[in-house]
Amino acid sequence: MEESAAAPDRGHSIVYAPRIQDLLAREEKVFRIDATTVGVSHCDLIADVVAARPVRSAERSVYKPAAGADIPHDSATRTIRALGKDVMEGIRTPPPPARGLNGPWPYAATSYLRQWLFASDPLPVSLLSKRGITRSPALSRIVDRAVTVWPEPGGAGHGRTALAEQIRSASDARERGQAIAMYRRATATLCDGVAALTGNALWLMGPAGREQLMGRAGRKQLTDSAGREHDVAGADLTAVLWETLRLLPPAWMLYRTGGDAYAGLHPEIRREDNVALFPLLMHRHPHYWSEPMDFRPERWAGVPDPEKTPAFMPFGFDGARCWAKHLVVPLAERLLTVALDNRLAVRVPNQETHVPLRSLLSVRFDARSGA
Ligand code: HEM
Repeated sequence: MEESAAAPDRGHSIVYAPRIQDLLAREEKVFRIDATTVGVSHCDLIADVVAARPVRSAERSVYKPAAGADIPHDSATRTIRALGKDVMEGIRTPPPPARGLNGPWPYAATSYLRQWLFASDPLPVSLLSKRGITRSPALSRIVDRAVTVWPEPGGAGHGRTALAEQIRSASDARERGQAIAMYRRATATLCDGVAALTGNALWLMGPAGREQLMGRAGRKQLTDSAGREHDVAGADLTAVLWETLRLLPPAWMLYRTGGDAYAGLHPEIRREDNVALFPLLMHRHPHYWSEPMDFRPERWAGVPDPEKTPAFMPFGFDGARCWAKHLVVPLAERLLTVALDNRLAVRVPNQETHVPLRSLLSVRFDARSGA
């Protein structure tokens, strides 16, 4: 039955949490969710809401205030540059043994990515975003304190990653506190997001799609009859990921707290209303997409800039566009290649995968590498 994963809405392959299922059943593009929240999946209205005012610092995820202060813009950009360096370095480095991908997804993939990209950081820095620790506020506080005294500012212990270096080179206690928070948030957002995206892609490909690309994933260069080189399998995987970002976008809901800026954009939205924006719904509107429920990576073939496609915003709209979007797809492609090269088998009880109500949309399954 997993073959039918290619059509996730036919009811038996993906079981959504009831509240997501309710949303998917909505036909209106602007609708009231509760007394103080309006849902929006209308493309133009979403763009208007995003453009109406900048995201408030408390609404941000990675760059919300830390150590009692807003994150200054220059340290935010330094963090993203450091993360970019670490991701590109990781992509060039041989991956850890594929058995690390075995187990429950997306968690196995999250740990695998942390191991791949950040395990070279010395303790306790590398513990900052470890799942068992982030889930416990008490343990998180202990690790934070340990990192605060590691290493002595100006001391000899260097972090191996550029992100850890941001902590070591902080000039005062507040900057250090903020660098610690940003290390945790950036690594967690990256590893959780890429694990969710890759898991969703593996599921949507189904056994036939995975089989087709297994062994091809690493084969990057093909030369056509005119002598031009093409990155054939790479291009296939990129299209798989864009189509996954359409059908199962990890960032499926964006939230804005209410206020004057949104009242007046639509009669349903009042000053006191919060607004929930749903890329998940917009990406499935038949008005914008042909055969919207079908997983068809080929719809992205030859599309030079997928984000310019109307009614598509897996990384947000102008005004609050994701700063890490250029890192997410290449890293997910690399992880997908490792999974396919190692013949990762996807298993679920009763051939049904569940999508729980979480801030990141991700399917659940158990994986075993067959290499
Ligand atoms: C799969 C991974 C990711 C996805 C799907 C994703 C998606 C998004 C989306 C949809 C937005 C728009 C949010 C809104 O308008 O409310 C956004 C904004 C943003 N993202 Fe990402 N993101 C990912 C990973 C990351 C990572 C790893 C970082 C950095 C460490 C990051 C940093 C940001 C920042 C700084 C913004 C701008 C929000 C603002 O204006 O403060 N994202 N992302």
